[in-house]
Amino acid sequence: MADIGIDVCGIRFPNPFVLASGPPGTNAKVIKRSFSLGWGGIVCKTISLDNSKVINVVPRYGKLKSRHEGHEVIGFQNIELISDRPFDVWLEELADCKEAHPDNVLIASIMEEYREEAWQEIIERTQETGVDAFELNLSCPHGLPERKMGAAMGENPEIVEEIVRWAKKYSKIPVWAKMTPNITDPKAPALAAVSAGADGISAINTILCIIGVNLKTLRPMPTVEGYSEPGGYSGPAVRPIALRHVMEIGRACPGVPVSGMGGVETAEDALQFLLLGASTVQVCTGAMLRGYEIISELCEGLVALMDEHGFDTVEEMVGKSLPFFDTHAGLVAKQQEAKRAKAGTTNRDGMWQGDIAKETQSLVGD
Ligand SMILES: Cc1cc2nc3c(=O)[nH]c(=O)nc-3n(C[C@H](O)[C@H](O)[C@H](O)COP(=O)(O)O)c2cc1C
Repeated sequence: MADIGIDVCGIRFPNPFVLASGPPGTNAKVIKRSFSLGWGGIVCKTISLDNSKVINVVPRYGKLKSRHEGHEVIGFQNIELISDRPFDVWLEELADCKEAHPDNVLIASIMEEYREEAWQEIIERTQETGVDAFELNLSCPHGLPERKMGAAMGENPEIVEEIVRWAKKYSKIPVWAKMTPNITDPKAPALAAVSAGADGISAINTILCIIGVNLKTLRPMPTVEGYSEPGGYSGPAVRPIALRHVMEIGRACPGVPVSGMGGVETAEDALQFLLLGASTVQVCTGAMLRGYEIISELCEGLVALMDEHGFDTVEEMVGKSLPFFDTHAGLVAKQQEAKRAKAGTTNRDGMWQGDIAKETQSLVGD
């Protein structure tokens, strides 16, 4: 039977499935329960030094449901901030989780203001709890950017480089940088993080969105005292976008572990992230909507898929589909070459008659 454990940054993950930062890692109780259920790793809800600045609103979630029978949730919006629980309580709980589950991987998601002393303090105090790695939240798209944090940092490669450099200066454990998808070129901040010494890249955080407008009240949702703000989109609808970001980062940063996420609910979803370069796969909305117990389906499903394709280890699958991307011009050249080989004939200019005819039609059509 296939082995689904994997070594990443010198840390042994019993399986590549990691609960992503968010409600699934909101306190020690749920973290310990999730480890017992079989999650290989957990990234805790993002913590910061001063929770008094973190004030959440209600409601803070919105759902986009399928129009078809079953009406399952296809997209999920949140305007939730980072953890509003005190830093000292978090330190005790992280130490407690690690003591109770030494063989599972606990990653501390951290976020701070744009000051080196703040990052130094949060890193030095958090790593004393025994957590295995840090994930720098440079990507929360709502609320925090108003304080010049989260995605306000992650969308600027120079700031990403500076923060990762600070983190690496004080951290004795691996540092992953979590990327925002709300940019045009995902490679730029990822490369900046890697050049500053990041040990891994996590992608993606949520995509800025508006889940809809309530057609009775004509107010945007989620509606807080009649008003709303753009929030972060997650769940199955974002998976194709997340796969593209992971692919771009995987190709741009060979050899750097990527932790992929966005809309994963099944082993089939997860395998696609692995094939596009992720070595661990994170799940947030899938666990919120379908329950933390999906971990057994994910592990069993991955073993079955590996057996079907003849893979013995997860490492063998990582990035397996990456070589099969090309530019558009590259696809055109490959297709022309294939057609040429099939037809075995070319005209004097090296173009076949069939191509000329199609090109003319498409010019007319356009
Ligand atoms: C309600 C909610 C809260 C979240 N909070 C955090 C957070 O505190 N820190 C963070 O880095 N990402 C946070 N995320 C983003 C997720 O970790 C993940 O990047 C994103 O939701 C995409 O994965 P998914 O489709 O599996 O949810 C949150 C997501 C949701 C839905």
